[in-house]
Amino acid sequence: QVLTHLAGCSWAQLKGLHAHIGSQIFELDPHRDLAGVLADAFVLARSLGHQPMDLNVGGGLGIRYVASDDPPSIDTWVQVVAESMAAACKARNLELPRLLCEPGRSLVATAGITLYEVGSRKHIPGLNTYVAVDGGMSDNPRPITYQSDYTACLADRPGAPATESVTLVGKHCESGDVLLKGLPLPATKPGDVLVVLATGAYNASMASNYNRIPRPATVMVGSGRSELVQRRERPDELLRYDVLPERLRSVV
Ligand SMILES: Cc1ncc(COP(=O)(O)O)c(C=O)c1O
Repeated sequence: QVLTHLAGCSWAQLKGLHAHIGSQIFELDPHRDLAGVLADAFVLARSLGHQPMDLNVGGGLGIRYVASDDPPSIDTWVQVVAESMAAACKARNLELPRLLCEPGRSLVATAGITLYEVGSRKHIPGLNTYVAVDGGMSDNPRPITYQSDYTACLADRPGAPATESVTLVGKHCESGDVLLKGLPLPATKPGDVLVVLATGAYNASMASNYNRIPRPATVMVGSGRSELVQRRERPDELLRYDVLPERLRSVV
């Protein structure tokens, strides 16, 4: 319907077709199937008089957050997408279009980690041990939104044997502010630095000021250098959109 409508619009020139089939996908078959769907749409667009040149397959390739995650490599994904697209075009006598993709998570997620400072702990005998950190659902909304799982360890003892299983919670005064459940950890004390791995995608970009918590800084490290790339938010910046109505100005 859209393609038919656009064919009658003098202001519109269809440059290409785009799809995005989801995110954190481990299977290759959905990407193979997409090639056929897009190629069919390409044929349909051509039959309606459009001259599209680009096919964009979006993103979606998953990454390993926990040991049981088993995503294909980027190389394999690229090969499958390119070969499926080429085969789908050949089967429909289409010239090869310009093939575009827009991977997000698979490029950047494992390049980022989040450092938290351990705060208080609460042990409820026979039930649970909670360890609180100085962040949570405002810097990483994925666990509360999608029940996402992560791997975590202590910064100065990453390989130390675990002595307990804890629930890692944030500081946002919400019962759902749980970063990790059943996290095996060695003994921790307030001030320890805890690392959550693979937080380079959809963390800073989805961070919020939930409960007026300022966003943390982002530091780029590598080749013996550390550089601030996003400074931490200041408390006064949390009020930057506040406006005091004229009639209340004399009151304060
Ligand atoms: C249109 C579009 N393209 C690409 C992406 C990136 O996806 P991913 O990070 O799963 O590779 C997204 C993410 O939602 C998207 O909506």
